[in-house]
Amino acid sequence: MKPSIKLIIPSFLAAIAVLLISSPSMGGAGSRVGEVFTYAPPGIGTAAHDGSLCLKCHKDVYSSMLTYTVKHEFGKNGCKVCHIKKESSHVSNIPVNTDSKENLLFLDVKASSPYVLRVKAMDGEGNEAVSPEIAFIPSEIYRDMTDDNTAPMIRNLHVEEVKEGVFHSATISWETDEPSTSQVEYGVSKRGFGDHTLLNDDILTKQHRVEVGGLVRGKTYYLRAISKDIYGNTSVSESMKVKVKGPFSTRKAEPEPDIELYIEDVYLLKIGDRTAVSWRTSKSANGVVLLSKDTKMEAALSAEPHYPGLSMDRYAGLDSCINGDCHDSGSSRLASHPSGAVSWYGLLRPDDLPLAKNSMILCTTCHTPHGGFYSRILRKNKNELCSSCHVN
Ligand code: HEC
Ligand code: HEC
Ligand code: HEC
Ligand code: HEC
Repeated sequence: MKPSIKLIIPSFLAAIAVLLISSPSMGGAGSRVGEVFTYAPPGIGTAAHDGSLCLKCHKDVYSSMLTYTVKHEFGKNGCKVCHIKKESSHVSNIPVNTDSKENLLFLDVKASSPYVLRVKAMDGEGNEAVSPEIAFIPSEIYRDMTDDNTAPMIRNLHVEEVKEGVFHSATISWETDEPSTSQVEYGVSKRGFGDHTLLNDDILTKQHRVEVGGLVRGKTYYLRAISKDIYGNTSVSESMKVKVKGPFSTRKAEPEPDIELYIEDVYLLKIGDRTAVSWRTSKSANGVVLLSKDTKMEAALSAEPHYPGLSMDRYAGLDSCINGDCHDSGSSRLASHPSGAVSWYGLLRPDDLPLAKNSMILCTTCHTPHGGFYSRILRKNKNELCSSCHVN
């Protein structure tokens, strides 16, 4: 059991209170409370969202706190603990399974938000390499690309592998001289291909591999490759005639000679209003781009005082109390009283004690969050409190 209701003044409030008493320029402390808020005690006022910032606007809360005889400890995160939503990091892992040496990935990012990014590469032998972290704001990327009006050059188009199944599938492979998209058009007639593979136009690479499924053994197909560079300049290959026979593979089974895997030339670029990251690896590899919002920096840039948002009643009055840092849920509940979703059978629902939606009992149903006048910061003296709900 962690007995965490300590009857002490939160440290930053204590510092303000001391200033109130000692400052000779202050006549009546009560009447000039406003001026006190320009003072930031050591360690407070450096982070954007600590208690002193909250008190700048919520002076009424502060004034009432000064009057309480029993106070709740706030901890180092001050008002934030109960009232401000936890920041989520939103890390996305974007796979780039091209088995290629040069890649480019368009990112789904907001122009004015800060992000951090890393590239991880994995080769066929299980080695991994990770790039250093790059912090960026998309609107501030200086590498603005201008259209070269040149379509990528398609080379070495061939069927790399055929796999047997209910239908057969063929892996079509080709190379381009610049990172570009990978798509195959195919069909049974040379004139109208009729079908095409799905296109992911966020991933651009120089070594292309596309699987075409649903092929029937013995049939002849016409295929062609389509690659589009970052500006949209598009190349379409000659068409290739393929008769589907048994399974085969020309994919190199031999591991590459002893080259150490590393990532080089990771850079961010802007193409029109899209943002992309480009990188190369010392040998063919798959990759993952780890992209997350830089919430610390965003908080600093944000003028919204409640960033990233005010928490709901239930969170402020119950979940934040038993979040692991403050009260330990099991023993506190035993020490005090059932809370959360409860059965009201045979009991009174009180008018003068706050409940959350669906008559949920919060810790703050019985305890005042900011402080109060009764022992254990209860809202009423103990006997009155119990009889608010328990008839006898
Ligand atoms: C720039 C002034 C400002 C700052 C700084 C500020 N707030 Fe507020 N806050 C407001 C205003 C104005 C409202 C009322 C508007 C509304 O309800 O959205 C409010 C509403 C609230 C409410 C809801 C009150 C209610 O009656 O439901 C809470 C809780 C709150 N703030 C907590 C905080 C905390 C905690 C901090 C410090 C992280 C903080 N505020 C910082 C201006 C501010
Ligand atoms: C232990 C959790 C907790 C802490 C810490 C906390 N509050 Fe609250 N606060 C609450 C809860 C719960 C309520 C809902 C009102 C109630 O039940 O009395 C509330 C209500 C409020 C309100 C709206 C109602 C009112 O009293 O005006 C404001 C504004 C507010 N708090 C600001 C602050 C500020 C500023 C701080 C830091 C000095 C702070 N709170 C610290 C839990 C907390
Ligand atoms: C139905 C009313 C009620 C609810 C709900 C309630 N408490 Fe209490 N709590 C009390 C009373 C009454 C006491 C004082 C017990 C005593 O001193 O005999 C108390 C005491 C405490 C103490 C001090 C224990 C000690 O040994 O000093 C803590 C800590 C506490 N409660 C935390 C919580 C937390 C956390 C919650 C929410 C999970 C909660 N309480 C919900 C009524 C309640
Ligand atoms: C806000 C209304 C409310 C208040 C105030 C309240 N209770 Fe309760 N109490 C309940 C409810 C509702 C239950 C039933 C909980 C359940 O079974 O889900 C309950 C259950 C209990 C139980 C059975 C506990 C258990 O673990 O099943 C005891 C004992 C109890 N209360 C004692 C008290 C005492 C002592 C006080 C005063 C300090 C008090 N209650 C204040 C609403 C309240």
